[in-house]
Formats: sequence, structure tokens, C-alpha cells
Amino acid sequence: MSLANSTLAPSSFQPAQRIRSFGTTVFSEFTTLAIEKNAVNLGQGFPDFPAPDFIIEAAQEALGRHINQYSRGAGHLRLVNAISTVYSPLFGRKIDPLSEIVVTVGATEGIFATVQALVSPGDEVILIEPFYDSYPAAVIMAGGAPVYVPMRPQPGSHSAAAWRLDMAELEAAISPRTRLLIINTPSNPIGKVFDREELTAIAQLVKKHDLLLLSDEVYEWMVYDDVQHMRIATLPGMWERTITLGSAGKTFSVTGWKIGWTIAPSPLAHAVLMAHQWIPYCVATPLQEAVGVAFEQADRRGYFAELRAMYQAKRDKLMVALTHAGLPPIQPDGSYFILVETGQLPSPPSQGQDPRDFAICRWLTAEIGVAAIPPSAFYCAEHKHLARDLARFCFCKTESVLDEASRRLRAKLS
Ligand SMILES: Cc1ncc(COP(=O)(O)O)c(C=O)c1O
Repeated sequence: MSLANSTLAPSSFQPAQRIRSFGTTVFSEFTTLAIEKNAVNLGQGFPDFPAPDFIIEAAQEALGRHINQYSRGAGHLRLVNAISTVYSPLFGRKIDPLSEIVVTVGATEGIFATVQALVSPGDEVILIEPFYDSYPAAVIMAGGAPVYVPMRPQPGSHSAAAWRLDMAELEAAISPRTRLLIINTPSNPIGKVFDREELTAIAQLVKKHDLLLLSDEVYEWMVYDDVQHMRIATLPGMWERTITLGSAGKTFSVTGWKIGWTIAPSPLAHAVLMAHQWIPYCVATPLQEAVGVAFEQADRRGYFAELRAMYQAKRDKLMVALTHAGLPPIQPDGSYFILVETGQLPSPPSQGQDPRDFAICRWLTAEIGVAAIPPSAFYCAEHKHLARDLARFCFCKTESVLDEASRRLRAKLS
């Protein structure tokens, strides 16, 4: 019998009908374009400079010591102990390394595992716009429904702090189906650092409506001038309801290592662990060892102060370059991103249904030679217009790359 006549013959099989497509991220599109056009890439937020020697040496040593097998699912002991030591004073409580920490494959898996653990089909999750783009994907994959609440800038202001959340609008978005609220401070892409008053107002709503809260704090060490990063989990009654995320990629400039952590009270951490055990089970052990060693040494080496000073100088440099190029920047208080206003630029021809900021960012990449990210990628379809006159640049780059970007922007725009 020939296969063509057999009932097994896959003649009518159409894979496209079976595929649940999530589409590509804005980063893959703009990184590809930046490479194609030989543009300076101030789009995707990864440091292009070497990680500190002490973490690299720790990783080399860990490999040499053959720490190569599966770790404990919730995290390698040396790392969870080090996280507990660093974070207990910051949270004002002893963080139990064995029951209140889960090490994840970057903060991205922390987001994914937390959402899988806490959100059931039909649950609603409130996302503040502009959001980090893995939030809606994680919610949708869990069968949940994202509900979007945009922050808005005070008209005429040029500071990230002037982007505010309307608490009445936030409360109106809460329904009996709302399960979780996700916040990000310091935020990507605005660089906003939520202050005590705003976090207190958010916390009051979370408690009033009996919600859980995921606080994505991956840029916690990157805050500038006299701004302080505040942890919502430290507010009264919030420890019990909050899952806080951190990232070694951001903290130690090793984004490719993909190591993150969730800190939460044991019932929530256990729920995250139960999801995590079915996602990666555990995270690369020698790299966990190295991050553990790095945390053990960071304070003594003055590393966090150094990191902050380095990024503050880079922020200031890019702020000046953007201002001189006629791209009014919105001064960030944290993170390594700067939003600029682009409303004064002529609109380039746009592709299909693309929002204006996509057309502008493609033009900046292809014609000016400096790649930026269109922030409407961080809004739902209904709210994308709020980002039409904005572009996002990052400053986690070497001095020579920032200088070259500045030269190109000034030469072609000012
Ligand atoms: C706000 C935010 N959360 C999470 C992540 C992901 O962190 P990781 O690289 O540790 O997965 C990023 C990365 O850009 C981010 O900007």
C-alpha cells in the first residue's frame, strides 16, 4: 500500500490552522533592522560592556569546581543564602532563603511562573501602561484577561516623575474577577520611580479589593540623583500579598545568563515554585553559584554605588545628546531608558497599519543610523495612540557607542 493512499497520509494537514501565534517581539524586529542598516543600537536594553571581573571569575571558578548538575528547584543554596543576606535589610524582615525565594530563568520566567501560579482562566490582571511586553503574553498564556490602565504625563513636563497613574481610573478597572496587579518600578520604558505616596495609594487599593501584586523591580539598583527606590512589599499589610522580582541580568550586566529571583511570603513563593518546577525545574547551577558569590562581595566592593554612578553619568550624557539633537528627552529617575518626544519630526511614510512611532523608529534606525524602540509596543491596541509621538533610547552602552550615537543624531537632526 502506498503512503499516499493510506489513512496516515497527511494530505489535508494544515499546520497554520493549529498554530497559536504570538507574533515576534518589537526587539527582534528592531535589532534585525539595526544590524541590517549598520545602526548604533540604542534599542534593545542590554549592556554592551563587560560584566564585572568578580562575577566572571566566580563563574569560571564554579565551572572549574564542576558545579554542573541540577540545582535545588527553588534555587542553589549559595545563591538563595546570598539573596537573603542582601535583601533582608532592604525588606526590613528576615527573608527565609529556603521558603521565600525562588530562583528563575531571568525575571522573565519569574513573571511567567508567577502569573501561571496565580491566574486561572477568566481571571483579570491589571497592567499599567506602558508595560513590559512579556506581561500581557504571560497573562494570555495563563488564560487570563489583561486589563490596561495607562499612566499619563502632566502636559508640558519633561520628567518621568510627572507620569502619573490616576487612582480613580485604576480602581474603576478592578472587577470581581481581578486577581493580580502588576507594577514595574523603576519602570521600563519611562524610567519612572514610584514614590511612597503613589505606592501607598496602590497598596490601599490592592488591600481594599483583596488583590495580589507582582512588583517587577529589575532596575532596583539604577536610580539617580537623590531618588530612592521603594519596595511596595515593605508597606503595611503588603508583604503578605506581594511577589517581588529581581534580575542578575540587570544587576550584574549579564543579561545572557538569564538568572532572576522572586521574593515572596512562603505560600506565594511555594505557588510560584510549583509552576516553576514544570517550566525549567531549575536554573543553570554554575551561574547561580557565580551570582551568589557576586552578591556576597557586592557591598564590600562598593559595587551598587559604582553601578549607579556609572549609569547616572551615561544617562546625563545621553540626555545632553538628545537635547542637542532636538529630541526633547523625558528625564528618567531610574532604569536605563530615556523616552524622547518626536512630535516635532515630520512623519515618514508608514507601513500598513503601523502606528506613527514605529515609522519614526524605523526612520531613526535606517536614515539617522541610531536604533530606538517604538513605545506603542508597550500599550494595548486601544491605547497605542498615547505613544505615537515617543521613542525609547537606552543608555546601557559604552562611552564610544553613546558618543557615536550622539554624533549621528546631532549631524543629521540638529
Ligand atoms: C521591566 C522588565 N522586567 C523584566 C525584564 C526581564 O528580565 P530578565 O532579563 O532577567 O529576564 C526586563 C528586561 O528588559 C524588563 O525591562
